Amino acid sequence: MSSPVKILLVDDENGILDTLKILFRGEGYDVLTANSGKAALSALEVEKPDIVLSDIRMPGAGGLDVMAKVREVDPEIPVILMTAQASLQTAVRAVNEGAYYYLQKPFANDELLAICRRAAEARLLKVENKRLKKEIKRRDTRGAKRPIGRSRPFVEVLKLAETVAPTESTVLISGESGTGKEVVARYIHRLSDRADRAFSSINCGALPESLLESELFGHIKGSFTGAVRDKDGLLVAASGGTFFLDEIGEMSPATQVKLLRAIQEREVTPVGATDSVQIDVRILAATNRDLEEEIRRGAFRSDLYYRLNVIQLRLPPLRNRMEDIELLARHFLKGLAEREGSAEPRELEPEALDVLRRYDWPGNVRELENALERAAVVAPGNQITAAALPDRVRESRPARVVDEEAPPNPTMEVIERAYILWVLEAEAGNKSRAAEVLGIDPSTLYRKLNRYGIGE
Ligand SMILES: Nc1ncnc2c1ncn2[C@@H]1O[C@H](COP(=O)(O)OP(=O)(O)OP(=O)(O)O)[C@@H](O)[C@H]1O
Ligand SMILES: [Mg+2]
Repeated sequence: MSSPVKILLVDDENGILDTLKILFRGEGYDVLTANSGKAALSALEVEKPDIVLSDIRMPGAGGLDVMAKVREVDPEIPVILMTAQASLQTAVRAVNEGAYYYLQKPFANDELLAICRRAAEARLLKVENKRLKKEIKRRDTRGAKRPIGRSRPFVEVLKLAETVAPTESTVLISGESGTGKEVVARYIHRLSDRADRAFSSINCGALPESLLESELFGHIKGSFTGAVRDKDGLLVAASGGTFFLDEIGEMSPATQVKLLRAIQEREVTPVGATDSVQIDVRILAATNRDLEEEIRRGAFRSDLYYRLNVIQLRLPPLRNRMEDIELLARHFLKGLAEREGSAEPRELEPEALDVLRRYDWPGNVRELENALERAAVVAPGNQITAAALPDRVRESRPARVVDEEAPPNPTMEVIERAYILWVLEAEAGNKSRAAEVLGIDPSTLYRKLNRYGIGE
């Protein structure tokens, strides 16, 4: 036992109380005493013992009252009752009401100590059990964390993800910004045979070309200024695990060639090196661009595309799965409550839910998550009110009907551009804050601003 067992002794005879105190102190217990039932009740308000040993007959509150109070505080605390005038009736009652043991005075110290030791062990076991159960539950929910959504278009993608997960197949995950591409990539990893190995990732849009190459493939000392020692590439370091190439559409054609070779040959050549290194990674890639369109523009290599596109998961935009809005909203509010350590998630006013359902969510699930987090800060009390939702969400028209079969690309860039403008406006032109709200790197935002011709 690491910390001493805390015992509460209750008896109205001070002589007995003192004897018991000395006895239990000598055995290494942490001893609390109360010389009346009433004193015991108030002691229980402030301190939680591991076990309780109480006389039954006391003026005022008796042993059974003490026991009732203990149950209230923690039903797992064992209570041992003792009495001089044993009556079968009270004995039965005591045990029926959950006493751990019923002792008749006078008793031998050995007997008392043995009973208390057993009670303490039972108590510690229960505490430990509870802790383990909690721990297991926590692990379970983490392990089984399935992306949220039961709309048809989303469930179809999830099912496909579940089918390809246990294979070694390369998967291309496409979808607008904030639709959950990374969420799905992690889900695939968790369901795969590589689940107990690392999930590593790199955002291909966040680094300049030369840095991206040295990060991916590694470099040897002296291969460029700043390369002061040999460095393994991420693809090598991630061996055995899953490697997620985020924003693959941003990769330069030269790096694309090297990546293609790495996938085909299962080896990489570090920058500046002549020898190659074996790799063993499963590749998942994500893009919010239409890569076929990029191929037509000459910005993406078709050979790499066909290599990555063995399986393509197309994540539907949120506006095409509006029936998931409520589910997602409640999921995020629950997560928020957990992070804040509060027992109850905030309530979602019906009117607020209506507002959420009317908006068309160009920033998809991420935008929904951000809107709720902000509303949680703004809204009074434990409610998410419509008034607390961001202006752009509240002031929206009914959602457009979007044809699911329509090619997503022509409108996608338009939507992204509009969304960026919106967020920028909401953040009063502050780009780093806007990048944060958008959930992208400031460098990615700058690139997008350039691309969309959104000037200084
Ligand atoms: N189905 C879902 N269930 C629960 N959370 C989700 C789901 N989809 C998205 N999210 C949440 O929404 C946010 C955006 O998801 P994610 O980062 O996976 O999107 P993305 O498609 O990779 O976006 P981007 O293109 O901007 O990188 C994350 O906080 C994620 O946890
Ligand atoms: Mg992402």
